[in-house]
Amino acid sequence: MPEYIVEMKLITKKFPGIVANDDITVQIKKGEIFALLGENGAGKSTLMSMLFGMYEPDEGEIWVRGSKVKIDSPNFATKLNIGMVHQHFKLVQNYTIAENIILGVEPMKKLAGIFPYVDIRDAGRRIEKLSKKFGLEVDPDNKIEDVNVSIQQRVEILKMLYREAEILIFDEPTAVLTPQEIEFLLDIIKGLREGGKTIILITHKLEEIKKVADRCAVLCRGKLIDILDVKETSTRRMANLMVGREVNFETVKKPAHRKDVVLKVSHLTVKNQEHFEIVKEVSFSIRGGEIFAIAGVSGNGQVEIADAIAGLTKVSGGTIELNDTDITNYNIRRRTLCGISYIPEDRQNFGLVLDFTLSDNLALKSYFKKNFSPKGILNRGEIDRYGNKLIEKYDIRSGQGVRTLVRSMSGGNQQKVIIAREIELASPFMIFVQPTRGLDIGAIENIHNMILQERDKGKAILLISLELDEIMSISDTIGVIYNGQLQKTAETKSLTPKEVGEFMMGVRHG
Ligand SMILES: Nc1ncnc2c1ncn2[C@@H]1O[C@H](COP(=O)(O)OP(=O)(O)OP(=O)(O)O)[C@@H](O)[C@H]1O
Ligand SMILES: [Mg+2]
Repeated sequence: MPEYIVEMKLITKKFPGIVANDDITVQIKKGEIFALLGENGAGKSTLMSMLFGMYEPDEGEIWVRGSKVKIDSPNFATKLNIGMVHQHFKLVQNYTIAENIILGVEPMKKLAGIFPYVDIRDAGRRIEKLSKKFGLEVDPDNKIEDVNVSIQQRVEILKMLYREAEILIFDEPTAVLTPQEIEFLLDIIKGLREGGKTIILITHKLEEIKKVADRCAVLCRGKLIDILDVKETSTRRMANLMVGREVNFETVKKPAHRKDVVLKVSHLTVKNQEHFEIVKEVSFSIRGGEIFAIAGVSGNGQVEIADAIAGLTKVSGGTIELNDTDITNYNIRRRTLCGISYIPEDRQNFGLVLDFTLSDNLALKSYFKKNFSPKGILNRGEIDRYGNKLIEKYDIRSGQGVRTLVRSMSGGNQQKVIIAREIELASPFMIFVQPTRGLDIGAIENIHNMILQERDKGKAILLISLELDEIMSISDTIGVIYNGQLQKTAETKSLTPKEVGEFMMGVRHG
């Protein structure tokens, strides 16, 4: 057996306007957890997409188990026992879990020796066995559209295992998970290593690398900077290497100067599709110059509060007032014009039009205004000038500047597009849901500073985040939600993370 199960040698991959991978060599040992670290747009997903046969390298060679291979399709990668869970899942929403898992490799049998049919029962049995073995419980009969992201991810993992993958690539698997789910997934990943699998893990979270990875490759702007032994390297050194400068782990924050109330929510009640009250009689207000954070375990109603305020969900009781105007029954555009910016949780479905260019996405909420459409005709030059200004200001990286199709951009840079557009609306009230999800630590630092700057300009800000660290470091007031109800509202300074955690779990009451 050769020492390395995968070798990528001197790999170069270019896209229009950018060298996404520049002469990269990595060698991965069988049975190790190998992490990939690098800023947004550094080339991590591209490198792994080539190992999975989605792109072919322009230059360089790929060797698997000691033989040189030409991986020209995901099908061939599957034959080489390589599997990948993508940054954005690729499941069929209205198929069941079992159907998704066996899609393309259906176990066929012949009825009476002649008529072919899919032996779904046999598939069910195999799925159950794999679920048990690796601790990945699912109900194979549930439809994908009815299960949460954590379960969808389990399905993606089972899909790989069902195809007998030995080399498992995870592209930012924890970005969409809650802290509890992350712990669970990291245990699963360790279990897979114990089962003899080789794992490649892309993540922006240094603690995760520290917890599970054996070695870590650091990429920066398409180039390989170094390969580190994780045990012997501090997270600070990893961070500095990847960003290319000293990273501040502490956010510097001036004291808040609270002004008049901008947003007032009274007795807000929201029902979900099953008519279950997911938000119950929630009341709070946010002043100009204040960051109000809602802390809570995922699924306790926080996203529904944001959606109700932004107008995406109908309210079944209570009122929402913005600068003393009752907007409870306004449509979305009217709310935007009244002064609401919204960074939603699901950036690909609600935040962006993937097949529009970068500049069009940046102007998406203001193209109808006078400077962009004088006399009703779009002024392209002006839209591009505006786009270039924002690309510079928010450090949005892409291949072809304003002309880049957003679909081709890296995940983290897509997120920066939404943030730039929404902050630039200069609304008196801004909602940020998971604003830094999928961003590298340098970008997180920048976004936190930008949110604080908006606060200091007098904006009222609602922050919804699953990251308690983020809430503790930038918010001024915290409302802790549990089971659709606000358990406790208090100044951030007056609470410890432990107390907030206890309110979040419902074991302590205000
Ligand atoms: N299909 C494509 N067409 C054109 N450019 C692309 C394509 N895929 C990636 N790129 C470009 O290649 C560069 C590297 O992108 P990649 O997705 O590999 O980054 P990443 O390291 O995974 O970043 P992130 O952490 O934000 O996910 C980016 O500048 C991106 O815009
Ligand atoms: Mg990526």
